[in-house]
Formats: sequence, structure tokens, C-alpha cells
Amino acid sequence: MKQPKRYLVTSALPYANGPVHIGHLAGVYVPSDIYVRYLRGKGADVISICGSDEHGVPITIKAKKEGVTPQDVVDKYHGIIKDAFRRFGISFDIYSRTSSATHARTASDFFRKLYEQGEFIEQTTEQYYDPEAQQFLADRYITGTCPKCQSEGAYGDQCEKCGSTLSPTELIDPKSAITGATPVLKKTKHWFLPLDKYEPMLREWILKEHGADNGGEHEVWKSNVYGQCKSWLDGGLLPRAVSRDLDWGIPVPVEGAEGKVLYVWFDAPIGYISATKELFAGKGDPEGWRPYWQDEDTKLVHFIGKDNIVFHCIVFPSMLRVHGDFILPENVPANEFLNLENDKISTSRNWAVWLHEYLDEFPGKEDVLRYVLCANAPETKDNDFTWRDFQARNNNELVAIFGNFVNRAFVLTHKYFGGRVPAVDPAAGLTDYDRETIGEIPRIKAAIEQNIENYRFREALKEMMNLARLGNKYLADTEPWKVIKTDETRVATILNISLQITAGLAIAAEPFLPFTAKKLAGMLRLPSSALRWDHIGCMTLLEAGHELGEAELLFEKIEDSVVEAQLKKLEATKAANAAANATVAPAKEEMVQFDDFAKMDIRVSKVIAAEPVPKTKKLLKLTVDTGLDTRTIVSGIAECFSAEEMVGKRVLVLVNLAPRMLRGIESQGMILMAESPTGKLSVVAPVADDESASETAPVGSTVG
Ligand code: MF3
Ligand code: ZN
Repeated sequence: MKQPKRYLVTSALPYANGPVHIGHLAGVYVPSDIYVRYLRGKGADVISICGSDEHGVPITIKAKKEGVTPQDVVDKYHGIIKDAFRRFGISFDIYSRTSSATHARTASDFFRKLYEQGEFIEQTTEQYYDPEAQQFLADRYITGTCPKCQSEGAYGDQCEKCGSTLSPTELIDPKSAITGATPVLKKTKHWFLPLDKYEPMLREWILKEHGADNGGEHEVWKSNVYGQCKSWLDGGLLPRAVSRDLDWGIPVPVEGAEGKVLYVWFDAPIGYISATKELFAGKGDPEGWRPYWQDEDTKLVHFIGKDNIVFHCIVFPSMLRVHGDFILPENVPANEFLNLENDKISTSRNWAVWLHEYLDEFPGKEDVLRYVLCANAPETKDNDFTWRDFQARNNNELVAIFGNFVNRAFVLTHKYFGGRVPAVDPAAGLTDYDRETIGEIPRIKAAIEQNIENYRFREALKEMMNLARLGNKYLADTEPWKVIKTDETRVATILNISLQITAGLAIAAEPFLPFTAKKLAGMLRLPSSALRWDHIGCMTLLEAGHELGEAELLFEKIEDSVVEAQLKKLEATKAANAAANATVAPAKEEMVQFDDFAKMDIRVSKVIAAEPVPKTKKLLKLTVDTGLDTRTIVSGIAECFSAEEMVGKRVLVLVNLAPRMLRGIESQGMILMAESPTGKLSVVAPVADDESASETAPVGSTVG
């Protein structure tokens, strides 16, 4: 889009059924905060919106378990989350909640408008009802015997033993999880959003406007986001129910909908709009929210985790579009997931670093965590947080580079010039090396900008550190502590340049390390009017004679004992889990779920032609008949098989593997091979190679 007039930045509303952990932070809140702080530094008109997501079944389950009301649950966690974000310096303009009155009104009005336009399909289906509790049962509230693996205690939506996705009516001997009663099927009416109807619009908007060759008018979406959207669209969209039988949520605002509430994923994203309204109402400007949501020259960006992609790229935009009064997001920079010490973060297993606990245990080290989470942000793939890496990045990067540079510049200025910024010596002027160093700053500044504007926060952070590195190297190379013995005016120039770099650093670091930047600006006694992004690289940020404050330590070394204490804490969690699960199978996350396996379409296929791929040692280009079609597969087997010997072979092919370009050839699947410990490959043959066996597993047979 053209240069936007204003920015509306949203961060996924966390569920108020538990505290926030480092996975949430690295995936959503640290990146969005860097983005908005940067834009504010540029003087852009930007607002940052978030709040608690307080509806949905998990909250009601938690309340039942703890014997309190759902309102008690959300009040508790809303408080914890909001406070932790504030202490961590996440600079939302508003942190609201979906139990607010403004939200109830906004979401109801939204639903009613779509209802009155006739957008919804009304459908009556049969669902399980608990006659004792006199309520319909959400899938999770029904347990029974798994029809697939016969184990007991499967849920209405999933069996955790074998991992199958279930529907409640498949369960053998179903029971209500609330009363233990046998549920009965009862008719119930719901409202469905016909996503299938919006498919052409979504294809045009996502695949054309935000795809790789979109002509440059709009932002190209990250490949993980684009890929997920494309596969949803290619799989075909179905109408989705937007109401539920539940007594916690926003009542469906139409006649004949007693006991029904809006589905949490219908109301929650509308929470972004409600929160924006509240923000402006609080400023005494109740109509002020409109341009942010309604003007085409607003850039709307949703920061989310990958499990939220379909809701933010397909469902919510469809709602916004059919409603008609709202703009659509320009980008949805979703991140992958962060692991902790090589294991999936899990609330139920308490495998996490909780933000509120970190803040209590590491006072004054907010920026260290912000730094490490940004440096390891799971931008393109899942990533790992380890306490050793946390320590190493603090000690080797923040302390040894950033802190060391600033400290030396300060200490030397105090020592040689009484804490006043010395002037560049006008007679001697600058050396070539001075000019070269100064010339690097605009390049670094531009690189930070480029990267932030393209949602590459790790790279942006590296470039910010390059500014500190530049200063550190400049001091090491010019050695003012030696030169002082012979040439004080040269030292004045060196320290002037060094201090100007520290001032630039106070601005460049702000989006990433806001606490440090503030401290540094205070040490430099920089007025807030100086702290504008475009002042990075200005060599007169500090005038000659300006008096500096005292040098304070920006970062301090983290000792082994601190890391060991954290690792011990995790060990204890592991031990507690192991004791609790002694009789249970391995953690479900570590196993491949049945559904994951079932997704693989493996078919007996026949190689009908083969040729080596030129200029490669390993690749063969194979033409295979899968029974479905004839297709090309590029396979890395040329070191073990010649093209000739592959022709005629019957092989197993994973046919629904996403296509990949290999040496300019699109490979449409994968041939399954067995690999010996020494790397020798053999074809995993369905049966004998010869045609005589075609009776038992003809080409096209499926494997599973
Ligand atoms: N609560 C959801 C989650 O944590 C995110 C909701 S985002 C919103 O996955 F768009 F619905 F608000
Ligand atoms: Zn099962």
C-alpha cells in the first residue's frame, strides 16, 4: 500500500485462563512492541491494541475445576497478564478485555448486522445434552471410550491416547464430564458463517494481493502465513458455526437464541475494535477510533502465533468484509513456536518460563529477556530457548559489546575531560578511519529500518548490535588510553565520535531494549526531544561542553549459579510430571499423532522414466505413475541408483508432500527409501518389482 497515514497494530488477545510465558512473548508481543516503538520513534501515528480474551470453553472448565466462577478466573489472570506486560515494558496503548461492556455491545452489533443482512445460515443439528445439568455439552465436556483404540477417557473432540480427532457421537458409552450422566441427543439451532461463499474474495485478496508476485502494491505475506492460507483455500472452505450452547460469553442477540452465546473466535477479534473504541473514549474522543478501522490509508497489522492464522487471515477478514464498514489487514506476521530446553512449551505440564515469575526473579533484567527472545524469535521455524543461551547472549553480547562500549566511552570522558563532551579538534579534523566509521552509521540505520519494516526482527536486532560493535571496535582501534599520553586533542575527537555513537545507540536500541535505552539517554542527559529515530547518525546530538551524567552499569554478568538454579527448577518440573504420569504413555506432544500420520497419502507407484539431473551428483529426475496421475519427482538417490535401473521399479510415493523446486524442476512428491547406517539406499518396495505381483498391490494402492 502507499505510505500509510496511520498504523493500527494488534497483538493476539491472550486467553485469560493462565499467565503469559516466553513462547507468547517471542511469538507475538516482543515483535509487535519492537514494531510500534520503532514507528513511534519515526513520529508515525500508531496505536498498539491488546487485551484479554475472556470467553471460551477452557475458561469455564478451569472455573469448574477450581470451584470458582468463570468471572473469577478471568479477573485473576487478566490482572496477572496485564501487570506482567506493563512491568515488561510492552507498550500497548490499551490493554482491554473482552468481558467489557463496550465489547459486548460491539460484538452484538456486529453479529446483528450480519444477521440482518442475511449472511448467516441457520441450521439445526443434534448435539449431546446433559439432562441432569440441563445444558448442552461442549465437545470437551463429553468423555467416553475411543472408537479407534478402545481406551477410556477419550474426549468428544479427541482421544489423547491415540490422538484421533473424534466427534462426540462417535464415542462409545458417552458420559457428561459435568455430572457423569449419560447425555442425550437434542436438537439445537446454530448460526453459520458461509466461508465457502467468500472463497473467491479471499483468493483474490490473499493469493493475488499478498502473494509473491503481487506487483508490489501490497505487502507480500510471510511464506508460512501464505502457505497455510493457500492450503486452507485449496482444501475448500466450509460454513463455520459462530454460536455455541454455553452460559459463558456474549449472548447471541437475536430472537430464539436463549442459552446461546457467540463462539469465542467470533467475538475475540472484534475485541480489537472494542479496545480501540475504549482507547479513544478514554481520551474524550469517542469517534476517534473510526479512522483507524475505516480509512483505507490506515495500515492494519495483526501480530499473532501460527495457531491463529486461519482466524486472522480467513475468518475475521471475511467478517470484516461482509460487515462492510472495516478495512482488512495489510499484513499478518505470524510466528512459529518457541520451545524451552528442547521441549515443547506446555501449560498443562508447567513446562514454561512464566513472565511474572521471571520479572520477580530477575529484577532489572527485563531487557535481557527481550533481547534473547528477539534474537531467538521463531520467525521462520520453531526455535529453542535455553538458559545457557540466555546466559551466553547476556555475557558475550549485551555485557561484552553494548555495555562495554558505552562504559568505556563514559569512563574515559570522565577521566580525561571531567565528564564534558570534548570538541572535535578543528585543526586536525577527522581521519579517514573516523570518516569510515561515521559513514557506517547510516547504513546500519537503514538496515534496521528495512528489517523492521519487513518483520525481520532478529536481523534488525543484529544490526542494532552492529552499531554497538562499530563503537566498540572504533575505541579498540583508536586506543585513546594510549594516545592520551601524547595527543590530547586527538583523544578529544575520538571521544566526541564515540559519544555521538552512544547517543545514536540510545535511540536505535529503544525499540528492542527500552529500559536500557532510557537509562542510557539519562546518562547522556539527552533531552527527550533529541530521541527521534531520524537522529541516529547525527554527529552533533551532543554538543561540545555538554555535561554527561555518571556512568551506570547497563548490563551485568550472569553467573553459572543463576542458570543452574533455573535448570534445577525445570528438572523439578520434569520429575513432578514423571511422577504424575508414571502410568501414562509418553507426553502426547512427543508422539506422532494418528491424524498426522493419516494425513500422509502414500501410494504404490511405478517409475516410467528416469534421467540424471545435469550438473548434480545426487539427483535423478523421475517420472512416476501414481495411479492418480503421472508426475515428476526429483530424488536424491543417484549415488545409489542409476537412471536405467530405476525405470520399471515399483516404489512407494508420498504423493501429497508439498511440491518443492529442486534445481529448477518442481518435485511433486517423495519416493520412500530405506537408508542403512552407512548411507546405502534401498527402495522400499511394496511387493516384488515385477508385474506379476500387481494383483496384490497394483499401482495406485494406498499405504497406511
Ligand atoms: N486467545 C487466542 C489465543 O491465545 C487469541 C485470540 S486473538 C483474537 O490463541 F483475535 F481473537 F483476539
Ligand atoms: Zn483412541
